Amino acid sequence: MAPFAKADVIWMNGALVPWDAAQTHVSAHGIQYGTGVFEGVRSYDTGNGAAIFRLEAHMRRLAASAAFYELPLGYSTEELCAAAVEVVRANKLTNAYLRPLAFFDSYSFAIWPRDCPVTIAIIAVPGGQYIQGGPDHGARVTVSTIRRIDASTLPPSVKACGHYTNSVRAVQEAIRRGYDDALMLNTKGDVAEGSGANLFIVKNGAVITNDVDASIVAGITRDAVIQIARDLGMPVVVKPLSLMDVETADELFFSGTAVEITPIKEVDGRVVGDGTPGPLTRRLQASFLDIVRGKVPAYDSWLTRVAR
Ligand SMILES: Cc1ncc(COP(=O)(O)O)c(C=O)c1O
Repeated sequence: MAPFAKADVIWMNGALVPWDAAQTHVSAHGIQYGTGVFEGVRSYDTGNGAAIFRLEAHMRRLAASAAFYELPLGYSTEELCAAAVEVVRANKLTNAYLRPLAFFDSYSFAIWPRDCPVTIAIIAVPGGQYIQGGPDHGARVTVSTIRRIDASTLPPSVKACGHYTNSVRAVQEAIRRGYDDALMLNTKGDVAEGSGANLFIVKNGAVITNDVDASIVAGITRDAVIQIARDLGMPVVVKPLSLMDVETADELFFSGTAVEITPIKEVDGRVVGDGTPGPLTRRLQASFLDIVRGKVPAYDSWLTRVAR
């Protein structure tokens, strides 16, 4: 991913502040111990202003992640949605990537984050491709030796900052091996997901993905893909995925806010299909892109329009 371009302002603790003023102290609990929660959200140019995709679902998931770590956000989901709209509008963004983030701030070195104040921010920057060329040409992935975190230690569906050291290890290994991203197994040995995206398989005309009990983040894009596939009349199956399922798939793709719908063209040197994005992946991707850009009125409830 290319480095982000600075925006003018960041929403921080209830106010829009200049980018360079949105600072925190190195002693913050969230920096020491990773005790923060976050979201990744995208907005798109509809040709008639920006629209944020499934904003409320993202803010609800942020609230659930925060509740898990007993981190009081101090703002309702409704207030955070309004703040996200405000930060996109104030920065005059259309195609943007938004990063809501809340963490325990500076108070003490005690592990128990008692009495730590909470800092909350929403950053928005111009959006770009997460895996360069991935959505158009497909990504190359490797099966990671790093297993996905398990619910018995850290709940995989909670988007907490510290949990992502797991994904960092996997993606570092993947890049070292010369691939674009990792495919992570769970502790049972089934396939879980990518370092920051859910996995879909296409086999004999069916669209197949795993569920939260496979140690995945319950992706909002995953949920959208399932609905879009059903609406397009494609059979959808939700079941555990084995490595064999991956190796014998007709098509494979990642779904996620950052990667959007990214076809996978190769797994550890094994070419998927004919090595180009498959027909169902292409149909789902085209439909997804039309929906997020506001071209399909039936899905309007997924969009939060940003008034100019
Ligand atoms: C590990 C992981 N899996 C899956 C996803 C996809 O989730 P979503 O579609 O809600 O962005 C993400 C991104 O949030 C992620 O970090």
